[in-house]
Amino acid sequence: MTRIDPDRAALQAEPDRVLIFDTTLRDGEQSPGATMTNAEKLEIAQMLDDMGVDIIEAGFPIASEGDFEAVKAIARASRNATICGLARANLADIDRCWEAVKHAESPRIHTFIGTSPLHRAIPDLTQDEMAERIHETVTHARNLCDNVQWSPMDATRTEWDYLRRVVEIAIRAGATTINIPDTVGYTAPVESADLIRRLIAEVEDADKVIFSTHCHNDLGMATANSLAAVAGGARQIECTVNGLGERAGNTALEEVVMALKVRNDIMPWRTHVDSRKIMNISRRVATVSGFSVQYNKAIVGKNAFAHESGIHQDGMLKNAETFEIMRPEDVGLTATNIVLGKHSGRAALRSKLKDLGYELAGNQLNDMFVRFKALADRKKEVFDDDLIALMRESEIEG
Ligand code: KIV
Ligand code: ZN
Repeated sequence: MTRIDPDRAALQAEPDRVLIFDTTLRDGEQSPGATMTNAEKLEIAQMLDDMGVDIIEAGFPIASEGDFEAVKAIARASRNATICGLARANLADIDRCWEAVKHAESPRIHTFIGTSPLHRAIPDLTQDEMAERIHETVTHARNLCDNVQWSPMDATRTEWDYLRRVVEIAIRAGATTINIPDTVGYTAPVESADLIRRLIAEVEDADKVIFSTHCHNDLGMATANSLAAVAGGARQIECTVNGLGERAGNTALEEVVMALKVRNDIMPWRTHVDSRKIMNISRRVATVSGFSVQYNKAIVGKNAFAHESGIHQDGMLKNAETFEIMRPEDVGLTATNIVLGKHSGRAALRSKLKDLGYELAGNQLNDMFVRFKALADRKKEVFDDDLIALMRESEIEG
C-alpha cells in the first residue's frame, strides 16, 4: 500500500488548509548578491520551522558542497517542517538531493525541468524525449522518497496539451505534489486561477496530488496570482520572506499569510503560520541577505504601520481601525508608529507629549504646536528628543 506523505495527510485532515512552502533559502538566495552563510541559513530555517511554515526548501544540494552541507544540517535540526531540496531532472542531482534531505523526519525531493518551448530548446529535447526524462527522474526520486514534488518550469508559457501530458506522466511516476511555476512572472490572476482549475478538472488522477503555485513578481502580481491559484484549487503556496528572489522576487510569505488572515471572509483558507513572528524573520532575512526592505513594502515595510498626516493620526488615535486593516501586534510589532512631521496635527502632538510626560492644553499646547510646525518645516521627522528640547525652550521663553 502506498504511504500518504505527511503534507497530504495534513490537507486531508483540514480541507480549508493551505500549505506554506518557503523557498527563501533556495529561490530567495538565488537573488544576485543575497548569498547567506550556512550558519545564517540554519538560523533562518529554525525561525521558519518555529513559526509554522509547512515545507522549507533548504537549498540546491548539488550546487556546491556548502549548499549540500546546509541542507543536511537543516534537515537534521528541523522539528516540524518538511525539508525539501531542489534537483534538476537527472539522476545525479536527485541522488545528491536525497543524501542531504534524508536526515529530516519528513524529507521531500523537488525535481524540475523547463517544459515551455523556450525551455525545451535549451537541452534540445523533443517533446517525447522530455516526457521520457520526466518519467525516469520522477520514478527514481519516488523510489528514494515518499514525498516528491515535480515542477514543469515555465508552466505558464507551456502549451496546454503538453503541460497536461507531462503532469500526468509525473503523477503516474509517483509525484505527490505538482508545482506550477510562473517562472518569469508572466501570468495574471484570472489566468492563474483558470490554469489550476483546468489541471484539476482535466488531468487524470489529479485528486491524487497536491497542486502548488510558485509565482515570480516581474509584473508585481505574484501575491495576487498565488491567491488566485488557491481559489482555483491549489493547496500549497511557494513564497519567500520579504519576497526575496530572482529579478523582482517571489511571492512574499508575509503578504499571502496576512491576506488569508485578514480577508478570510472572501478567501476561506487557513495557514498554520504564526503571523506574530513575521516582523522578526523579515528583519533577520533583510540583515543576513543584505537586501533591505523598501519603506512602503506591504506588511513589513517601515511605513506599513506608520502615520504622519494629521487626519490619519487623529483618526488612528480615536479608533485604529479607521486607517489600519491589521493590528500591528498580529505581525509582531508592539504598536502603530505615529510619526511627527509637517503633516501632523494637534491631536498627535498632544498624544506624543503625553507619552513623554507632558500634559498640555490651551495656550501651552498652541505655543508648542507653533514651535513644532516651524521645526517640522525644516526637518523631515520630529523625534522625541526634538520635542523635549522644544518643551524646554517653551518653558524658558514662556
Ligand atoms: O521559478 C521557477 O520555475 C523555479 C523552479 C525551480 C520551481 O524556481
Ligand atoms: Zn522560482
